[in-house]
This record gives sequence, structure tokens and C-alpha cells, in this order.
Amino acid sequence: MTRYRPRHLSDRLKRALKTHPAVFLEGARQVGKTTLVKKLARELEMRYVTLDDLDLLTSAQADPEGFLTSWDEPLVIDEVQRAPELLLAIKARVDRKRAPGRYLLTGSANVLALPRVAEALVGRMAVLTLYPFSQGELEGRREAFLERAFQGRPHPEWEGADVWERVRRGGFPEAVRLENADRAEWFAGYVRTLLERDVRDISGVEQVAVLHALLALLAERTGSLLNISELSRSLGRPRSTTDKYLRLFEKLFLVHRLPAWAANPTKRLTRSPKLHMVDTGLAVHLARVFNEGALLETFVTMELTKQLSWTTEPYRLAHFRDASGREVDLVLEGPEGLVGIEVKSKRRVGPGDFSGLRVLKRSAPERFRAGFVLHPGPQALPFGDHLWSLPVQAVWRWGNDDPKNGSELE
Ligand SMILES: Nc1ncnc2c1ncn2[C@@H]1O[C@H](COP(=O)(O)OP(=O)(O)OP(=O)(O)O)[C@@H](O)[C@H]1O
Ligand SMILES: [Mg+2]
Repeated sequence: MTRYRPRHLSDRLKRALKTHPAVFLEGARQVGKTTLVKKLARELEMRYVTLDDLDLLTSAQADPEGFLTSWDEPLVIDEVQRAPELLLAIKARVDRKRAPGRYLLTGSANVLALPRVAEALVGRMAVLTLYPFSQGELEGRREAFLERAFQGRPHPEWEGADVWERVRRGGFPEAVRLENADRAEWFAGYVRTLLERDVRDISGVEQVAVLHALLALLAERTGSLLNISELSRSLGRPRSTTDKYLRLFEKLFLVHRLPAWAANPTKRLTRSPKLHMVDTGLAVHLARVFNEGALLETFVTMELTKQLSWTTEPYRLAHFRDASGREVDLVLEGPEGLVGIEVKSKRRVGPGDFSGLRVLKRSAPERFRAGFVLHPGPQALPFGDHLWSLPVQAVWRWGNDDPKNGSELE
């Protein structure tokens, strides 16, 4: 067993257990859900059971209420997606007694997508998502990018950070531990298990080859606007099938949908979202060809998505694209205003790389705080008007006190 790495979501989970009768920890297979809840269960003296145990599963399905009565609380139930009927029984129990911290549940498929379940648990259950390791978790530091970005003024010199190796490695704990050849084998096994077992469990879909082909297409298109017609043509299947399979991958936390930003909130929903693979390691494994810029954009998008998952501040992330196609990869919105982030895979940044950010700034002049062009080079430079070029590693290293790691010289 390798060394346990602390998870940044842990504090947020503990806080949620103090305020909600039930907490649901969702996340892709193999991101570390069981490891994390078992650790919490020891710390908080909660009983732990898993529905991976067939006897327990049979009982939970046959008599959910009886199953819950038979265990002492507080109770951790791992793999609860195997018996979604338990969630309705939990609802009935927490309505009778609304004490916080009674249940901690985990699942690797989004069971809350079932309408009946979602409705039943509104307000009763906090839902938190565990993602693969963040770069901060891997370096043993707490990221502060979300706060620092709004203040602007990064330190000019940054230590190097083997960014492409981080992109290829991704953040699944096992994939991080293994070297290249073994990692490829691990990813192959991961995808096989998912497609052959988990997808079938939640949907009855069994076209493994088609699913595999679609996942590879999505990996090759990571960071681009969702275009179902084009995907369907490339896959050679009807739109409805493509759409259904895509939703399955989202439900299994393999693919992340990034909404569009617009100054007018009512317009946001009508614009196309972007799709990102949740893990760049998995994306590199699956894609036959890929665009380095898009891959780096996915890397940054998912690092920030992870950081959002454990903050309690109401930050939101979106992408920006206006009617004439001018774009900014990421718009980070918070109580302080908004920050635009553009990701480039070339090391040298020029004034032309800020054109999308300038458009964004004009769309929301009062709210705009700063714009950054992230790049794999070593320096942060000012480009006027609260615009900066900034090394990618600022995403997880900004905020550390060591000036070499990009904190400001006061
Ligand atoms: N915090 C951590 N530090 C070090 N290794 C970890 C950590 N979390 C998980 N791992 C390792 O990653 C692997 C998967 O972890 P775990 O079983 O907890 O994931 P999971 O999300 O419960 O997966 P599944 O959905 O398949 O049940 C295990 O080998 C585990 O030892
Ligand atoms: Mg598990």
C-alpha cells in the first residue's frame, strides 16, 4: 500500500456532515472515494458498510428500511448506486429525525440523475464530487489560485513544472503511482471494466465497441464545443444514440460539461457547452491524435473544477464565445467579479493572444478584474489593462510564500 495523500475535499465533507442529515460523495471509479470515506469513518467513529458485499446488497434491495434499521448510526454506505432504493428509505428516516451527519454515502454513477431520487433528497442531502488528484494534492499544498487571481499582480519568475508530464499522468491515484507502460495497461483495464460492467449496470447498454469508439472521439475532441451532429457522423450512429451514450459518460464522471458564459444570464443556457475529459491521463491514453492546446486547456479547466469542488465560496466556471466566434477558454466568476483565462500551449505569448480577453472585458467592464494567458513558459508579464501572461503552474502554485513559486514581492 502506498502512502496516503490527504484529500482537500476532506474538510468540506466534514463540514457538510455537520449541517446535513445525509452527504453523498460521488465521483468516477478509482478516484479514491472508498479510501477517503474509510478514513473519515475511523476519524468520526462512523460504521462502514459496502454494497460490494453481495449479501448486504441483496438485503438492501429486498428490504431497504429493514437494512437501515439493522445498522448503528452514523453509517457510511459505500457503492450506494447499486441499491438506489436505499435513498428513498433514507429520505423517510431523515424526515422523521433531522439530526445532521447520520449518513455518508458514496457512488460512482450519478444516481441523482434519477428524477424520483433527486426530488426526494433536495435540501436533505449535500452532494460533493471527488475528482482525481489535483496538482496541489500531488505536491502536498493547498491551491490558492481562486483567491489570488482576482487580485492580479503575479510574481514575474516561476520555477519550472514538467507540465506535459503532469498532463500525461492525470490524477487517478493508481495511474499516478505507475510508470508509463504499466500506466497504459492500467488505463486499458480501467476503460474495459467501466464499459463492460458499470455502463451495463446502470443502463443495460451493451454495445461496448461503440461506447469505446465514442469515448475515443470525445478524448480527441476534448476542449471543443459540443457538436452532437458531428459526433454522430464520426461515430456512424444516430444522434439519439450518441446523445444517450454521451450522457452515460457524464453520469460516470468521465466527461465534464462546461457551460457557456454570457453577460445576460438568461442567454447562457441557449449557447453550446464545451466538453472536457475529466482526466487528461485518460484522454491521452484514449486519443489517437490530439491537439496540445486543447489538452492543456482541459488540464487547466479540470484543475480549476477540482478547486471549485472544495471551496465553499460561490465561484462558477464557464467558457466565453460571442456571436462572431471570439473566445475565452475560461471565465471564473465570483463575488468579487470575474477573471478571464486563456490557455496557450506555445511558450511565447504576444499581444494578439489577448484579443478574446479584451472582448470579454468589454462585455462586462464593471465586473472584469483580471485576464490571464496561461502558457508553459517560465515568466509572468504584464500586458496592460489588468492583463497578464502567466505560467500554467500558477494554477496550483500561486499563493505559496516562496517567491520562486510565484507569490508577490511585497
Ligand atoms: N488519498 C490517497 N492516497 C494514496 N492512494 C490512494 C488515495 N486514495 C485512493 N488511493 C488508491 O487509489 C486506488 C483507488 O482508490 P479507492 O478504492 O478508494 O477508489 P474508489 O473511488 O472507491 O474506486 P471504486 O469506484 O472503483 O470503488 C486504491 O489503490 C487506493 O489505494
Ligand atoms: Mg470504492
